[in-house]
Amino acid sequence: MKRFRRLRADERLRRLVRETSINKSDLIYPLFVIEGENIKNPVKSMPEIYQYSVDRLDEILERIKKSGISGLLIFGIPEKKDVLGSSAYDDNGITQKAVRYIKEKYPELLIIADVCLCEYTSHGHCGVISGNKILNDETLPLLSKMALSLAKAGADIIAPSDMMDGRVKAIRTFLDENGFKEIPIMSYSAKFASGYYSPFRDAAESAPCFGDRKSYQMDFANGHEALLEIADDIEEGADIVMIKPALAYLDLVKSARENFNLPIAVYNVSGEYSMIKSASINGWIDERNIVMENMIAMKRAGADIIITYHALDVAYWLE
Ligand code: PBG
Ligand code: ZN
Repeated sequence: MKRFRRLRADERLRRLVRETSINKSDLIYPLFVIEGENIKNPVKSMPEIYQYSVDRLDEILERIKKSGISGLLIFGIPEKKDVLGSSAYDDNGITQKAVRYIKEKYPELLIIADVCLCEYTSHGHCGVISGNKILNDETLPLLSKMALSLAKAGADIIAPSDMMDGRVKAIRTFLDENGFKEIPIMSYSAKFASGYYSPFRDAAESAPCFGDRKSYQMDFANGHEALLEIADDIEEGADIVMIKPALAYLDLVKSARENFNLPIAVYNVSGEYSMIKSASINGWIDERNIVMENMIAMKRAGADIIITYHALDVAYWLE
């Protein structure tokens, strides 16, 4: 009989043979910034997550800084939306203002800027529309302008999340031509059309007002296609690739880890967060145990970077 239990006898032994760990430096916290003054709006479907106006950001930025995590992923919510999402690439847009503020006051934090039009368009789609079609090639120049504008504001990493074809190459080329050769791109390479995003759409006020995102985000039945998307983004110039959502897609994190050698990020999305929060508020699960188990699962599958609404709690528990 093989006695596996020998090495499980007490915590000293278990610690010695533990295969996977999570570090604060693996973690990125998503942050929602809204236009206006003196705002700290709770997001109903996401307990403990808020939309902040720039003048109220210090409270959360101080917490992020003290937590020791790597940084934040920023989403802006503009006052005015229009059909082309023009405030997305306005140098005085809400996201640009917030990035400038954070860069100036918290230079130690890594600022990752989400690049997508859906928070800025009146129709809530991630691209330019014609009738009820979402146009690919017409969207690329707008994403490129948005990326450049955010890079100029001080973003450290550009993260396109729109799922238009060819956007990594378009953004890379435009950044290079405009003096931002050194700015990395973290591409949402395999982003699935997922039911797990619905609380985020409350938080970012970005729900599409007609149809759905299935003509650009991936079909959740498709794993091989995810690897093709990742390979293509790498060829187009992505420095970091992302799989999103995380927990229902760990098989793909594992295959990506086996097939590619650059850093892999996962986005542990809003629905994954809200399910844990609601169950733990009801006393049905132990939040800390389950969150840490999930963090380790993402790392064990092969993720290097975890974007998660639990980041500040995890950092605290790691202390
Ligand atoms: C924007 C975007 C979304 C998320 C990140 N960037 C929503 C969507 O595609 O509708 C989801 C994040 C989350 O659910 O936490 N394209
Ligand atoms: Zn979008």
